[in-house]
Amino acid sequence: MAITPTHEQGKLTNPEPMVEVRGLRKDFQLGDQWVHALKGVDLDIPAGQFIAIMGPSGSGKSTLLYMLGGLDRPSEGEIAVAGNALDLMNGEELATFRRETIGFIFQAFHLVPTLTALENVALPGVFAGSDREYRESRALKILTALGMEERIDHRPNQLSGGQQQRVAIARALFNNPPIIMADEPTGALDSKTGQTVMRMLRFLCRRQGKTIIVVTHDPTVASYADRMISLKDGDIIEDKPMRPARENKPLPAFSGWRLAEKALVEEDEEESEYVD
Ligand SMILES: Nc1ncnc2c1ncn2[C@@H]1O[C@H](COP(=O)(O)OP(=O)(O)O)[C@@H](O)[C@H]1O
Ligand SMILES: [Mg+2]
Repeated sequence: MAITPTHEQGKLTNPEPMVEVRGLRKDFQLGDQWVHALKGVDLDIPAGQFIAIMGPSGSGKSTLLYMLGGLDRPSEGEIAVAGNALDLMNGEELATFRRETIGFIFQAFHLVPTLTALENVALPGVFAGSDREYRESRALKILTALGMEERIDHRPNQLSGGQQQRVAIARALFNNPPIIMADEPTGALDSKTGQTVMRMLRFLCRRQGKTIIVVTHDPTVASYADRMISLKDGDIIEDKPMRPARENKPLPAFSGWRLAEKALVEEDEEESEYVD
């Protein structure tokens, strides 16, 4: 049973953790050498929190994210995400978990080059077995919400980096997952476009109650989060709330923002699965 995030005017009302990690270790064998990528991580993330995972290159950020997303398995330890004990699940169960619970966003966008923006966004619906009409209308709705309605027939190479990342965000939202995970989502973008992407993630957290987990080595990116943890050599060495002043600032405007707000809020009302 998935933990359901509940949000009332941006305030978290559900104290249950969305993510619980205990004693998580990950060791990789490289030839006759072992790399200890995670050395016993404990972590709780409440539903609806926006958390940034920081740390230098090689500190274990991506490894932690991939474990939380069910993309890789722990060497040792326990991971519960949205009520699913990932360390006990088989490959098929993990695939279902990923499809239903996580929206992934990557630095390099990972769009299918031969498909249009609309088709890329609708792709998760193909795997979920939804019909074409639903897939296309849902993909159109999300792309419109993200200010991309004039680009739906473009292929990735006909889009700017920022537009490609919007398509990737739209794809991550297709199945309406409670958790969005992003690995260096602004790493391939200029700083202004990167800020737009971070505002979108913040919007999804505040207005839709999504739990957002972003890996970054950029403090500006991390400043959009509610909380920041720092990894070093496979250990969490710091865990702190971000400046509370930021918390109460109104959401800054970006092009398509009003549209996004309207469309996503309407969607919230239509799809009542997150409301109890
Ligand atoms: N598939 C793998 N095989 C071997 N070593 C790996 C693998 N993935 C990650 N590592 C190693 O684990 C450590 C942590 O990597 P990673 O989580 O990618 O760090 P970060 O994302 O913080 O840069 C690094 O030393 C890296 O080389
Ligand atoms: Mg990484």
